[in-house]
Amino acid sequence: MTSPKVLPFHKTIPRLVKDPVTELARMGAEAGGRIVRLNLGPFRPYLVSHPDHVQQVLKTEWSNFLREGMFWRPVRRLTGQGILREGEDWASTRKILQPLFTARYMASLAEDMADAIAERILELDDHARAGRPIDGAGQMTAIVNQAVVKVLFGGRISRDTAERLAPEFATCATTIGFRLLFPFVPYSVKVPGDRAFLRAMKNIDEIVYPLIEQARREGAGIGKMDLISAVLTSRTGQDGKGDLRQVRDDLVSMYATSTETTAMSLTWLWAVLHEYPAVSARLHEEIDRVVGDGPVRPEHATRLPYLHMVLQELLRLYPAGWIIPRQAVADTEIGGVRIKSGSQVLISPYTTHRLPEFWDRPLEFDPDRWAGESTRRHRYAYFPFGAGPHSCLGQNLFNVEAPLVVAGLLSRYRLVLTNPQRLIPVPGASARPKQQLLLRLMPIERNRPT
Ligand code: HEM
Repeated sequence: MTSPKVLPFHKTIPRLVKDPVTELARMGAEAGGRIVRLNLGPFRPYLVSHPDHVQQVLKTEWSNFLREGMFWRPVRRLTGQGILREGEDWASTRKILQPLFTARYMASLAEDMADAIAERILELDDHARAGRPIDGAGQMTAIVNQAVVKVLFGGRISRDTAERLAPEFATCATTIGFRLLFPFVPYSVKVPGDRAFLRAMKNIDEIVYPLIEQARREGAGIGKMDLISAVLTSRTGQDGKGDLRQVRDDLVSMYATSTETTAMSLTWLWAVLHEYPAVSARLHEEIDRVVGDGPVRPEHATRLPYLHMVLQELLRLYPAGWIIPRQAVADTEIGGVRIKSGSQVLISPYTTHRLPEFWDRPLEFDPDRWAGESTRRHRYAYFPFGAGPHSCLGQNLFNVEAPLVVAGLLSRYRLVLTNPQRLIPVPGASARPKQQLLLRLMPIERNRPT
């Protein structure tokens, strides 16, 4: 048996309080991929970052590393029972939801999604004309929200209601940060963010329950493939009687996992393009050539290889799912380190994706590293969507949606960052930039034939 690298309390806490996402990545890199034990006082999780160890925890020994323990408590306050849990509850939910997120099914929704995204992007023209910078994170959330509600609620939700839902989820995603960092603090003790989190949760319920009631009254509808119909039918039976709480938990879980992750990933992109003008120029050139005046349609997405590489690289350096916590069920061993039952294990794609042992120039944004299929890379050196049985259900949705959003925006505007600065990722449900990104939209002039 070997010992993990132990980081003492007086070194761990100040680093994690200052800039936790970046510091975890540094700790993993300093340990050269070895297991690190973090002394956080009342509890001492293991930071696991070597791809072999990631594979063991998420895939080969996944049933010994469950999504239990204090890290999951704050998330489940919002999402309740279902897909983000474990055991039978999770397995049966995954069976219900999986058919709604296959590549083929997503492709069938792509035209509708493209319309929804294009429509929302058009609204930015007002800002462009007025020369008013937009808030990057806010606008990415609004665009993604518009696309996602189509998938989740079909035509059952009004524009106004959908727009009220997005900021409530964004509030939950940000105010959960303290609880995620200090999960051992009991709920009887109020911490920063608690009040706003609970208020947003109440507001979400006040929007979601009436939608469920309405869908139940209208009938889930044979052949209707939106999420709310599928979940209602399987949870409440054909007669529509049954537990609405579970339907609520399913919808809230799916909304929470689908919007914030995608919106925050896309927010980082604008900071990256500012820092790497050559990448930005090449991306504009490709989109200009393939999409031209637009609007962007799903068939364009298959002809934008550089955009796909940019997105892959974006998810390497800024994986929104920055932390994947697990709890060991039985005693085991990872990389020669004994892990006792009940121990907390933290996997961080953000950390593994930046390990110099597995990535050349790890901190450089270089989409070309994705040119051609690399067979040299360890399969578990890159896992922005997780791995194993709990791997992300929304990967196909992201693959359809993200190119439509980016190509839609860049075929219309140059997005100029007006307040460049070093961005710090803050931990919330996703890693989001701490600072606001203000973007000026410069309409792209094309020479149209007269
Ligand atoms: C950039 C976008 C996204 C990223 C980076 C991301 C990341 C992740 C990661 C790392 C996991 C693994 C969690 C774990 O093992 O505990 C996960 C799971 C999950 N994701 Fe995503 N996700 C993204 C988009 C989406 C979207 C669009 C959806 C909507 C359908 C979604 C739905 C889910 C669900 C339901 C799970 C849990 C699956 C299970 O436990 O069976 N995600 N995601």
